Amino acid sequence: MESKRIAAEKAAEFVKDGMIVGLGTGSTAYFAIQKLGQRVKEGLSIKAIATSKQSEELAKEVGISLLPFAEIETIDLTIDGADEVDEEWNLIKGGGGALLREKIVASASKQLIIIVDESKLARQLGAFPLPVEIVQFGHELTIKKLRKLGADPVLRQAGNEPYLTDNGNYIADCHFGTIAQAKELHQTLNLIPGVVDNGLFVGMATHVIVGYQDGTVQEILKS
Ligand code: A5P
Repeated sequence: MESKRIAAEKAAEFVKDGMIVGLGTGSTAYFAIQKLGQRVKEGLSIKAIATSKQSEELAKEVGISLLPFAEIETIDLTIDGADEVDEEWNLIKGGGGALLREKIVASASKQLIIIVDESKLARQLGAFPLPVEIVQFGHELTIKKLRKLGADPVLRQAGNEPYLTDNGNYIADCHFGTIAQAKELHQTLNLIPGVVDNGLFVGMATHVIVGYQDGTVQEILKS
């Protein structure tokens, strides 16, 4: 947790007065929202867009003003976590189920700062199962199509029911093994009717900040 916190707090330093800030989702983004709330109390003036109901609630609790999408064209900077980051900064996201809103916000952001602890760094993506958001209608068929792609999909559960995203959809966690062609897989998946989006974020991150167990934090460079 400490390594997540230090990465998050480093990222919060990128936020300046007057910015519109995208707030990510998950246990690492939690620390960034907390830190921004603290800075707001100290006088920082920002407006934010949240990537989940959970982050929206937290932002309200810590005193960060939220904006409706109708009032924005672009977002200056978004701070979000990831489940895996490869050497080219391609990401797997969606372990917390917020991938669709996260991608909508990321795609409107001039900068996307990814905050992770060192355990999330990977040479290639795929050890973490890829979350794919699918609509409820015909989901059994959609899952069969995912299986044909070699995904070994598992419908995510919350207790005895399928897990529901903030958008009322299901998630299929897809074990593809090593993902060598992230861009191609992203496109292939999103062409399946019934797939809303998937957790591959290709070429979207502009910064990656890593917190290490030894207490150091570093903005890493793309290899
Ligand atoms: C939420 O849907 C995800 O994309 C998170 O950003 C990702 O799962 C990282 O979560 P943690 O910061 O909790 O590890």
